Amino acid sequence: MPISVHEATGTFHLYNNDLSYIFALVEGYPFQLYYGARVPDEEDFSYLVTECWMPSSVGASAECELVSFEHLSGEYPFVGADDMRPPALDVRTASGCNVLNLVYRGHTVERGKPALEGLPATYVEDPSEADTLTLTLTDDVTGLAVDLVYTVFAHEPVIARSARIRNTGTAALTVETALSGTFCPGDDRFELVELAGSWSRERHEVRTPLRPGAQGVYSLRGHSSHQFNPFLALVRPETTEETGEAYGFSLVYSGNHRMLVDVDAYGTTRVTAGINPEGFSWPLAPGEAFQTPEVLGVYSADGLGAMSRALHRVFRSRLSRGAWRDRPRPILINNWEATYFDFTEDKLVEVARVAADLGIELFVLDDGWFTNRNDDTAGLGDWEVDYAKLPHGLGGLAERINGLGMDFGLWIEPEMVSPGTRVWAEHPEWVLHAPGQPLRPSRHQYVLDLSNPAVVDYLTDRLSAVIGSANISYIKWDMNRSFADVFSQTAGAERQGSVRHAFILGVYELYRRLGERFPQILFESCAGGGGRFDPGMLFYAPQAWTSDDTDAVERLRIQWGTSLAYPLSSMGSHVSAVPNHQVFRQTPLKMRADVAYFGTFGYELDATAFAAEEREAVRAQVAFMKRYRGLIQFGEFYRLRSPFAGRGNECAWMVVGEGVREAIVAYYRVLQEVNAGRRQVRLAGLDPEARYAVREQGVPEGEAELYRRSVSGAELMRIGLNLTDESCGQNFSGRGDFISRIFVLERV
Ligand code: DGJ
Repeated sequence: MPISVHEATGTFHLYNNDLSYIFALVEGYPFQLYYGARVPDEEDFSYLVTECWMPSSVGASAECELVSFEHLSGEYPFVGADDMRPPALDVRTASGCNVLNLVYRGHTVERGKPALEGLPATYVEDPSEADTLTLTLTDDVTGLAVDLVYTVFAHEPVIARSARIRNTGTAALTVETALSGTFCPGDDRFELVELAGSWSRERHEVRTPLRPGAQGVYSLRGHSSHQFNPFLALVRPETTEETGEAYGFSLVYSGNHRMLVDVDAYGTTRVTAGINPEGFSWPLAPGEAFQTPEVLGVYSADGLGAMSRALHRVFRSRLSRGAWRDRPRPILINNWEATYFDFTEDKLVEVARVAADLGIELFVLDDGWFTNRNDDTAGLGDWEVDYAKLPHGLGGLAERINGLGMDFGLWIEPEMVSPGTRVWAEHPEWVLHAPGQPLRPSRHQYVLDLSNPAVVDYLTDRLSAVIGSANISYIKWDMNRSFADVFSQTAGAERQGSVRHAFILGVYELYRRLGERFPQILFESCAGGGGRFDPGMLFYAPQAWTSDDTDAVERLRIQWGTSLAYPLSSMGSHVSAVPNHQVFRQTPLKMRADVAYFGTFGYELDATAFAAEEREAVRAQVAFMKRYRGLIQFGEFYRLRSPFAGRGNECAWMVVGEGVREAIVAYYRVLQEVNAGRRQVRLAGLDPEARYAVREQGVPEGEAELYRRSVSGAELMRIGLNLTDESCGQNFSGRGDFISRIFVLERV
């Protein structure tokens, strides 16, 4: 078992081939001693416990004055222990006291990984894949019990942590902070990598040196947000994509989060992650329990790339679930940028007819199919078909689409409501709104109170009726605003601090019900683009709309950044029309497709407007993606050249298939360079001993062979793939702006 418990010394060691996580009990308090690369198991690591007088620190107890929480790190720092840093736990009694004294009561070790009730979490398919330690701490005065749950995966460099807070006493308590866990990677010689941005420029990679104090990412928007993804990494200054240490942290949660990196005055770095304590409280009556979300720690000794690939594997196959988990995703066409709200049934079918002829497999009807939805000012909430636009209903449209040999998908935005709807008139109390206060709009819409189970029931029934009314095989679940005036009109005063989290639990419950009722449906989550692209969502929907920005150049940065944590199988990526609707840039159809291949792939434009040669190009793109989507979506992804480096003019990445037999390499150059020198890009992940045939996609047969011989993996990884113009066939359009090239490598 990769969990060793040395009872005599109170030492707990969680490990696998890649990592070790060690903590020990000192006077009954668990202190984290080490987290990093694997070390051999030992009975005693107590020399790591700093035990000396330090000015201004507070002793752990009268018996143990030389040990201080400030100089060690508690496994679950709580208020009252004088840790002097932001705590993981803050619980208040009715008398207002929040001083606790949580000490070790016991532990259990089990094979496998238990589920988290009501919350998304990673899982195992066989108990041999992981072991789980549950450490119980109790406070005698309040009767508070805390179960710290740690799972170490046997074959992935990943530890999952979560906490269950139980009131075993006789008086009511209020949880004011309950984080998921803490990790102490040791010293402070790190840089922080985060995924930051805003709408339409989500998840840009930002790397900064650590400084003393607290730093990190958070959301107070009600959803995980476009601004700060619930992910961060700590890397050594010398860490690259393929070398050096990288510690990744990912919170499996979709609401208000906070991930802090705290560097204290003694050069210790501590990561805390969980539900954002701001605006949060949760009443805990005797006998009740509160379950935190799960946080994942990923350790890589081989750079950011290996960290990402471990997260990709876990998210792809031990977080995502359902019929679509392991299936290559259908190539779709979505009508949003083609028609916006202005469509008829015939227009949709015309678009679908062209798309079907080109080999596209799924037609998705986006926003605008329901009553009063001719623009974004009205209509959300009643979920009734607009028969003026769709005279034969969704069922009739789906039949016509199916008749073309395509599947049919539909857009919904369950959590929102527009003024003037029947549901609002009948249930004004279902809208989040503080009495007497202004009701603040965003995109003219308001938020339904999904913390109220009656709202979840209403949406379950209404949406089940809609989905059941047609042959629907895909749902795009949108959510287009951040929360402002959060007040539940149906919850009591003591529950108001719980509304944001209870809302997210309501969203998860609705997803669960619809997912179980319609198990064959492929769900894609969306939040005004990538505003809720997080691991919590991936548990219910294996793919997410990455960004509303579909410009090929912008997407290089967005998809690169997103890939730090998330697999290509989860990234919605479409070819859209030019000039691009977000940045008005004109990029070639080839580059748009060459970028969109690295995701779930689809089109979001009016296919009837294609010129004849564009149709043929798209036909070839669709055929290419059908041939290689299994490799691309389920292979191992390597980032080669960063669009965030230097002037950001180049980008390259590749995917390596099973058995390292095939690989696809993509190279992009945004602007033509003047008087540039030789250009090559070093590949990764290949078998150095194997030889590969290298062919360039889209270059005519006979000219596509990039080398006149097979090339060794070693040469491709150490010298690099030759990109200079002379080496390419005469049809290579290597000059000008917006160049993209795709290479297929096959082991010979
Ligand atoms: C925002 C989404 O990101 C878009 O793709 C589109 O579905 C619109 N909402 C529709 O309102």
